[in-house]
Parts: sequence; C-alpha cells; structure tokens
Amino acid sequence: MGWPGRGKSNGNNAAMVRQTDQTFDNMAKLVITIDGPAGVGKSTVAKGLACRLGFAFLDTGAMYRAVTLAAMRKKADLNSPERLVAILSECDFRFTPADGGTQVSIDGVDVTEDIRLPEVTANVRHIASVAGLRAQLVQMQRNFASTQPGIVTEGRDQGTVAFPDAGFKFFLTADPAQRARRRCDELTAKGVDADYARVHEDIEQRDLSDRSRSAGPLTPAQDAVTIDATSISAEDAVAEMLSYIEGES
Ligand code: DC
Repeated sequence: MGWPGRGKSNGNNAAMVRQTDQTFDNMAKLVITIDGPAGVGKSTVAKGLACRLGFAFLDTGAMYRAVTLAAMRKKADLNSPERLVAILSECDFRFTPADGGTQVSIDGVDVTEDIRLPEVTANVRHIASVAGLRAQLVQMQRNFASTQPGIVTEGRDQGTVAFPDAGFKFFLTADPAQRARRRCDELTAKGVDADYARVHEDIEQRDLSDRSRSAGPLTPAQDAVTIDATSISAEDAVAEMLSYIEGES
C-alpha cells in the first residue's frame, strides 16, 4: 500500500510551525487526530488544518472505501471476514496527495471517484466491521505516521485505537439534519438530484453502524476536544483547532 506525502503549508503559519518544531524536539513527531460521524466535514477540516501546519493528511475512510471497492470488483463474499482480509494482500492500494484531496488507485487504476459511489458507501460497513482487517489498516496508519514529522489523520477510531497517544485529539460533531443538508447541497452542486429524506436516513444508518460495531466504533476519545460544527464553517473549525493547539503548546 502506498501513502500520501506531506501536506504543503500555505505559508501563513510560520509561528505555528516554529512552535510545532519545538514540540518535535520533545516528541519526535506530532499526531493530530480528528474523528467524527459521516458528513460532518472531517476531510475538509483535516485538510485545512494539515495545510496550515504543513503536515501530512491521512484520510482513513478512503482506505476502507478502497478495500470495499476492491472486494466488490473481485465479487468477494462481503460476509466472509477471511476473504475480506485477503483482499488487502491481493491488491496494490496507493494513496497520493492530489489537488484538494487524496488520489486513490488500485492496481495502478485511478479509483478516486469510484470509491465515493453510493454502492461503495453502502457496503463499506462490511469491511469496517472486520476486526482483523481493521488491525492491519491501523498498523498501516501507524507506519505511515512514523515516517512523518507531523500528521493530521481523520476517521472514526484515530484518537481511540490508532493513536491513543496523539498530541491533540478532536471529535468533530454536527446535528444529523445539518449534515444531511450539507450533503444534499454537495450533491446538488455536482448536478445530482438529492432527496433530503433519503440522505438524512442514510446518515442516521451510517451513524448507527459506525457507533455499534465492536471493533473501532465511533466514539470520542476520553481526552478529545469536541467541536460542534452544526453552525460553524469548516474554516471556523480549523481556526478553533489551531487556537486550541496554540494555547496548549
Ligand atoms: O469517512 P468516510 O465516510 O469516507 O468513511 C467511509 C467508511 O469507512 C465509514 O462508513 C466508516 C469507515 N471508517 C472506519 O470504520 N474507520 C475509520 N477510521 C474511517 C472510516
């Protein structure tokens, strides 16, 4: 599995980088985790924060989505944990930083768009519930982090399971109705007809599935700072995180 490189700083964060570099002296590297439910805007916020800090950005949801797509294309039995674990070694998964996000490829074929297809979203819960597969993905996430001086990683279990000793942990939350409205706006902007009731129900189903699995469930780490993004923008959420990090450093 290949990994994204470091994020590019936007040049407005000299003080923060200096401060963080001092932290590196003590900690060798800095991991910042952002967990939260579907549709809350974690990727946008995590990318924004990584960019401001000049850190690497890791979209762990893309990993689960890529394994799901590979399993679907191989017509694997999605109810067979052993079969799903095997998919990891059967395919070459690559995650590369690209404009505004992460480019994902499977066996050399770009699947960045395909991993966002509704049928992949609907099936990803099968992959996400296999403890053995999660353990391998978590190990890959840790391996990647160990190669970076600083990383912002987002998902469901980053502060609880993958990086329990992370320097800073955030839990981003928002009202399901607001998340559904944002998702509908995104779909409409892409020219896709969006049915609000259906999107809302889908968000609630994903919340249930994320919170109720026994391996790596969605739950805030005890030491996470919760940010409610219901009525603030992604930029405001990044600013809140930065001011918290600055205050603590
Ligand atoms: O963040 P996302 O919607 O792209 O994530 C897709 C799915 O992957 C999500 O439904 C749950 C799963 N996931 C997970 O189980 N653990 C993570 N750390 C990230 C995502």
